[in-house]
Amino acid sequence: MSILTGKKIIVTGVANKKSIAWGCAKAIADQGAEIIYTYQNDRMKKNLVKLIGENAPMVELDVASDEKIEAAFASIKETFGSIDGLVHSIAFANKEELSGNVTAITRDGFQLAQDISAYSLLAVSKYAAPLMTDGGSIVTMTYMGSERSIPNYNMMGIAKAALEAEVRYLATELAPQNIRVNAISAGAIKTLAVTGVKDYQSLLNLSAERTPDKVGVTIEEVGNSCAFLLSPLATGIIGDIIYVDKGVHLS
Ligand SMILES: NC(=O)c1ccc[n+]([C@@H]2O[C@H](COP(=O)([O-])OP(=O)(O)OC[C@H]3O[C@@H](n4cnc5c(N)ncnc54)[C@H](O)[C@@H]3O)[C@@H](O)[C@H]2O)c1
Repeated sequence: MSILTGKKIIVTGVANKKSIAWGCAKAIADQGAEIIYTYQNDRMKKNLVKLIGENAPMVELDVASDEKIEAAFASIKETFGSIDGLVHSIAFANKEELSGNVTAITRDGFQLAQDISAYSLLAVSKYAAPLMTDGGSIVTMTYMGSERSIPNYNMMGIAKAALEAEVRYLATELAPQNIRVNAISAGAIKTLAVTGVKDYQSLLNLSAERTPDKVGVTIEEVGNSCAFLLSPLATGIIGDIIYVDKGVHLS
């Protein structure tokens, strides 16, 4: 018996095989869960189909639109009834907001990054929670740039600080419904999203150098921790930010 046998879990944010969400999906499937994938747009759908085939359960979910969020969850409800978990692995900021000075962040750039990277957790949780009729677990992805001033991470660090606060408030609100909300603070990994950060190679090098074996954390390691947080083994963990970075945050 695996730790997620019989569970139905939504996984957002698989852009390609390097995505953290793909590491999560593999680990979750290995632990016996059925996965409902979501994709942002047709371009992402094509990538997803290459990974999982066209018959796997998948639904369009663009978190920039309330209507699309509502429609996605209505479709999931119709097909699957209830769900047991949700992986929120979504972020976006314009490149201009991921370099140079934070005083150069524009009002529009700030709003866009906060909307897609932070507000989206509240928006999807609003629709996911009612489908978790037998309790559930929501896991989102953050980075230590929320607490520290990491060169060029800039706007995303600010958005991650908001996201982490949301985790605590959501966890408090949803705990009475037996829904746990937590975040994984992953070490830097070379994905599509990270390449938006100016001089991202320094970010990756820094993360790798501070690990005991000088090898940065992998999407598989993040995925295994995600599967654990989604499982009944983690019922004692509520509203927490769990580092999965091979100790990078220690120094
Ligand atoms: N890569 C890292 O070093 C790292 C470290 C810590 C945390 N994270 C976080 O992990 C999460 C996943 O990022 P990743 O690094 O795997 O990169 P990624 O590019 O593979 O994934 C980002 C995903 O966000 C989705 N997305 C963006 N805008 C969207 C929208 N409007 N609607 C729906 N989906 C949208 C993209 O389609 C993509 O699938 C992000 O929250 C990121 O900030 C990444």
